[in-house]
Amino acid sequence: GKRIIVAIDGPAGAGKSTIARHLARHFGLLNLETGAMYRAFGLKALRAHVPLDDLAALTELSKETSIRLEVGEAENRVLLDDEDVTGQLRNPTVTDAASRVSVFPPVRAWMVKLQQQLGAEGGVVMEGRDIGTVVFPHAEAKIFLDAAPEVRGMRRFDQLGPEPAQQPEEVIRDLRSRDQRDRSRADSPLRPAEDAVLLDSTHMTLDEVVKAAEAIVEEKL
Ligand code: C5P
Repeated sequence: GKRIIVAIDGPAGAGKSTIARHLARHFGLLNLETGAMYRAFGLKALRAHVPLDDLAALTELSKETSIRLEVGEAENRVLLDDEDVTGQLRNPTVTDAASRVSVFPPVRAWMVKLQQQLGAEGGVVMEGRDIGTVVFPHAEAKIFLDAAPEVRGMRRFDQLGPEPAQQPEEVIRDLRSRDQRDRSRADSPLRPAEDAVLLDSTHMTLDEVVKAAEAIVEEKL
């Protein structure tokens, strides 16, 4: 079949990763999580004690950083300077750092280039904030996945396991502030592409969202 590109964008906690994983499995596509790359660079900046608002220092740091995404159908491994940091990317500090470093154009230009290389052959589901608008504006299928902030926050909270490091209110607050930063940045702000299909999962079950997303892709095959 055609080696299509499926772009999934939307705010934090909307279920992009889950839906991307399902679509990848269902259609035999590779699943690329671009947020993991911004997270890896956030981790690098934290480790290097580079202030997260110092554009010049971050730009310098980016030049001596290698980030690779090892793509699998089930999950991605992230190699930061050849070290597998996959397990270190989801804590609140790294999450916040990723959100802060991702506002800077040189950081984004670098990541976008890597992502375009990764998806160049098609046959991928790529998930992030600017895939349908900037990374692959000609993607065959574009889905903008959204849900009310409280719903996204509670879903995130429920994933934290039996001993959550944060209270639900904190999770919702963090998620809102990341969204706000993503939506208001000058360079590739979070917004649906003109030709994206909007999917609001606030009142939908996971199964319903999966089915709806499959139908959107099916139409483009
Ligand atoms: O998707 P995830 O929550 O892992 O992304 C972490 C952060 O990276 C987001 O809060 C967002 O600021 C940034 N990001 C981005 N563009 C992308 C993917 C992620 O700016 N394509």
